[in-house]
Amino acid sequence: MTTEHTCVVYGASELVVGPGDDEPLEMCEDAAFAAVDGEVVAVGDTDEVTREYPPENADVAIDADGNAVVPGFVDPHTHAVFAGDRSDEFEAKLRGKSYQEILEEGGGILRTVGATREASADRLLENLLDHLDVMLAGGTTTVEVKSGYGLDIETELQLLEVIERADETHPVDLVPTFLGAHAVPEGVSTDDYVDQVVDDQIPAVESQGIAEFCDVFCEEGVFSVEQSRRVLEAGREAGLTPKVHAEEFTRLGGSQLAADLEAASADHLLCATDEDVEALLAADVVPVLLPGTAFGLGEEYADARAILEAGGPLAVATDFNPNCHARSMEFVQTLSCVEMGLTPGEALRAATSGAARALEREDGTGRLEVGAPADAVVLEAPSSAHLAYRFDTSAVDKVLKNGEVVVS
Ligand code: NIG
Ligand code: FE
Repeated sequence: MTTEHTCVVYGASELVVGPGDDEPLEMCEDAAFAAVDGEVVAVGDTDEVTREYPPENADVAIDADGNAVVPGFVDPHTHAVFAGDRSDEFEAKLRGKSYQEILEEGGGILRTVGATREASADRLLENLLDHLDVMLAGGTTTVEVKSGYGLDIETELQLLEVIERADETHPVDLVPTFLGAHAVPEGVSTDDYVDQVVDDQIPAVESQGIAEFCDVFCEEGVFSVEQSRRVLEAGREAGLTPKVHAEEFTRLGGSQLAADLEAASADHLLCATDEDVEALLAADVVPVLLPGTAFGLGEEYADARAILEAGGPLAVATDFNPNCHARSMEFVQTLSCVEMGLTPGEALRAATSGAARALEREDGTGRLEVGAPADAVVLEAPSSAHLAYRFDTSAVDKVLKNGEVVVS
């Protein structure tokens, strides 16, 4: 006979269940949830839930003691697997150099590519696991990670393999994305490199069988709309769902491309117009906003309110990469409120169920409703608004993944 693993979290001042109908979030007060074998089986009043699932009989019992409990955060856009350091570029940018100038001089992405190609797989894994530890301690329980610092078959496959190994060893769930079209390596024309991605890299990624999404940096001076389309169509043929880095520095047409291809998401959107937003929403493409990037580069933020007012789903993410050294989904929520005008509830929804939608997770990830994975964050704060409101230290106290305590 197999025994069940039970988990009860009770005494929450407020428990965020998921998105609400009229409000951004559905919440219960004086609430609890119970999980069996990692899946939520009951949510509601503490009295009712604990009557059915007494804490004294549970394998894991947590008294939230008047603090808020929310779903684990989902970070749907990161470039977390790389080697090397680019903190000196931060100084160059402060002195007025632009991101694109640095890239044109062989810095930026290409510099990280150099350091990543030199690094061993074990070193890359160690780096990634360190970042995941920080993310998990900050309440992130699911994270998308892109390749893209290899730009050759061998290294791109190695990066995807490192992501898979990290997924096997770390409590955070990883979602692997192939981003061979992240930049054009030195010594090759863009068209020739697109041929390499389409003819060599994508078939190799398909037979490796790890990646789930295919992304492309559709940007002036990087990949044009037509080149991006070739990559994403080839990816789709190989079973990889499209995602697009769209309208980050220029309005090139990545949103329309994402809409045409029915991509899972279009990300960045700093220069997107109302028309772009309309096209995305009509095609059910989730807009993913990355306010940390705008913050770090001193750029204008994306128009989050326009997306919500157009009735769209919305996701936010860290975009963690050497140009945006941000692993905290709490800080992303702070920026979402202070700089993009979201309410704390809207920001938390975008960081949980909205983000899960950008990753096409349909198993309840990003929610604490019956049937969902029991991925939860217990705060050391009486309301979930503290996630955005507090920006000096983390409001996260404990983290549960599949009903197990992974941060205490
Ligand atoms: O999403 N924009 C392209 N890619 C990353 C930056 C990567 C880097 O600078 O290393 C982004 O911001
Ligand atoms: Fe990115």
